[in-house]
Amino acid sequence: MPAPSSAELKEYASRRARLMQAIGPDGVAIIPSSREVIRNRDVHYKFRQDSDFWYLSGFNEPDSVLVLAPGRKEGAFLMFVRERNKEREIWDGRRAGPEGAVSDYGADQAYTAAELEGLLPQLLTGRAKVHYTLGEHPAWDSRITACVREIREVSRRGPSAPTEFVSLDITLHELRLFKSEAELKLVRHACEISAQAHVRAMRATRPGGWEWQVAAEIHHEFEKNAMEPGYGSIVGGGDNACILHYKENEMQLRDGDLLLIDAGGEYRGYTADITRTFPVNGKYSGAQKEVYEVVLAAQLAAIEELRPGNSSARPHEVATRVLTEGLVALGLLRGDPQELIDTGKHRQFYMHGTGHWLGMDVHDVGRYKLDAQPRPFEAGMVMTVEPGLYIAPDTAGVDPRFLGIGIRIEDDVLVGAKGPEVLTGGAPKKVAEVEALMAG
Ligand code: GLY
Ligand code: MN
Ligand code: MN
Repeated sequence: MPAPSSAELKEYASRRARLMQAIGPDGVAIIPSSREVIRNRDVHYKFRQDSDFWYLSGFNEPDSVLVLAPGRKEGAFLMFVRERNKEREIWDGRRAGPEGAVSDYGADQAYTAAELEGLLPQLLTGRAKVHYTLGEHPAWDSRITACVREIREVSRRGPSAPTEFVSLDITLHELRLFKSEAELKLVRHACEISAQAHVRAMRATRPGGWEWQVAAEIHHEFEKNAMEPGYGSIVGGGDNACILHYKENEMQLRDGDLLLIDAGGEYRGYTADITRTFPVNGKYSGAQKEVYEVVLAAQLAAIEELRPGNSSARPHEVATRVLTEGLVALGLLRGDPQELIDTGKHRQFYMHGTGHWLGMDVHDVGRYKLDAQPRPFEAGMVMTVEPGLYIAPDTAGVDPRFLGIGIRIEDDVLVGAKGPEVLTGGAPKKVAEVEALMAG
């Protein structure tokens, strides 16, 4: 990834400024990068930067640490990075080194990662709160806690040792929950290309093809747009649609089956998350269409709830209500819809939530509750809306024509100041539109 442009540098600096404002002068934040992970012997999995680290720096190298020390006279933004190494750079690629961290990434001071341990006492002394998420980086956990203990021991009469560790959930993740204009540009792009990938998949699907071939169409569209899957793509034909996290993508597609695709591309750190369910042969059967219309009605009703001031629990309540009424209308459940929901009977066919925050992580950061209550929506949040119905092939006591039908429809929605804005509308979801596209 190239070094950030000056506009990007400004954006990262404003995020750091807001975080430093949130943690205050008695706090210090420590954010390690991701590390490389071995896939097999000498080979690593493709590197993916830690989202918090990326959000604050745009720096895409492993084995680095970022420290924010508000008010520090020598500079508040410190980066600890891999040292330059001619030999390693010939084999593995470029490194910015401490010099590049200052010149290209705007660090006030930069050192090699190995130097952090020695500088920690100086960085932590006199700071009451260490904003650092314990439990995620075991090696740093022990170095940082050991350093705090040492400061405590030597500081009985001198400057004080930190007394609190604060998870980044409380500060940084609240910032990440609200997308800036610059972030929304990236999210919109990821959503647009990902919708295009679903269109391509619909066009390429035919009876006798294979799930992995359709996955390849999706991934082709991502890669030719400098994107990669933001999570493991799910391409499930027939009964496989009833396995929520099906990821083998290995079966042949049969005439008369549905195909459920849950796939989203990541663009410069921001992912889309889209699901469409369409007929392999281009035409929904009667039973498929009946279930599909219920899921679509639930999704459209839930999307309407993404408005500033509404409870963020509303989309799930509304979707569950529409789905359960639909299940009763189709004869898949019997009884009063509200009673069925209260006793959890709908969960046989709808066992997951209706959405999650979306951003740099597909299940993005940000609290869902404040003071134990579902928080209200505010402009700038992005959430998925993804109801579904899954009638497992071995379900007893239901009309056999419904068996093995699994349908989910998922869009990514911005809570706009004036109401919901669907970002993934480029992928058709109305029955007539899907059928027309597949016929064309
Ligand atoms: N693709 C993961 C999800 O829909 O939550
Ligand atoms: Mn999804
Ligand atoms: Mn999702």
